Amino acid sequence: MTETMIAVIGGSGIYDIDGLEGAQWSSVTSPWGTPSDQILTGRFDGVKMAFLPRHGRGHVHSPTDVPYRANIDALKRIGVTDVISVSACGSFRENMAPGDFVIVDQFIDRTFAREKSFFSSGCVAHVSVAHPTCPRLGDACESAAKAAGITVHRGGTYLAMEGPQFSSMAESKMYRDVWGCDVIGMTNMPEAKLAREAELCYASVAMVTDFDSWHPAHGAVDITEIIATLQGNSEKGRALVKGLPARLGAERAACPHGCDRALEFAIMTAPDK
Ligand code: ADE
Repeated sequence: MTETMIAVIGGSGIYDIDGLEGAQWSSVTSPWGTPSDQILTGRFDGVKMAFLPRHGRGHVHSPTDVPYRANIDALKRIGVTDVISVSACGSFRENMAPGDFVIVDQFIDRTFAREKSFFSSGCVAHVSVAHPTCPRLGDACESAAKAAGITVHRGGTYLAMEGPQFSSMAESKMYRDVWGCDVIGMTNMPEAKLAREAELCYASVAMVTDFDSWHPAHGAVDITEIIATLQGNSEKGRALVKGLPARLGAERAACPHGCDRALEFAIMTAPDK
């Protein structure tokens, strides 16, 4: 058994979490760069927790400039075992309305201006991301969301776009009608891939803020609409997060899905190199 440490990476609208015992912000250094911000650590319901604001307090990093490798590495270094991403998203589905939460389980990665691997030179590894999220963490998120009275959808494909501009209507319709995506956002990739390379369990809770630009009855997305919905969503997001420690427990066994052993059959480079 290993001691559980749950990290929450908070997206737009979530820049801290309250109620942690022994809460302390600390700087963590990483050879992969400086993380988005200091990391808040403490305990909730006796379980170790960490919180990292993805865009930094004050929202200073654009989706392209978030230091994804430094963030995941810093969490790994402080002993995190389980990562929950909380982020805003647009919806391609009529039934996934603003205010609803989606526990994403697949991604299409359309980002192109980010460092996506810890294994770019020196040591080459190819991990599987066929199933990029951890169902065990997804179960905990779903149950915590339901207990908090949140309308939650289990499963969905997240289109990760580069941004920072929103999609054109033609792109939005293609992602929805041709590619079968359910939601769209700018930050879950390469975060999910890096978490897998770091052998961390990862789940993504996407909070719907808008209908992107495909919906005939809704205009183009704008930031005022997103911020208004986020204000309600961030309270719900915090309630969900507080339900996780009791569900995941202070100690954990090996991940039944193998997320914590992802490198076992992934490294190509010879051991003496
Ligand atoms: N984040 C919130 N809404 C979004 C949208 N429509 N597209 C990309 N990222 C988003």
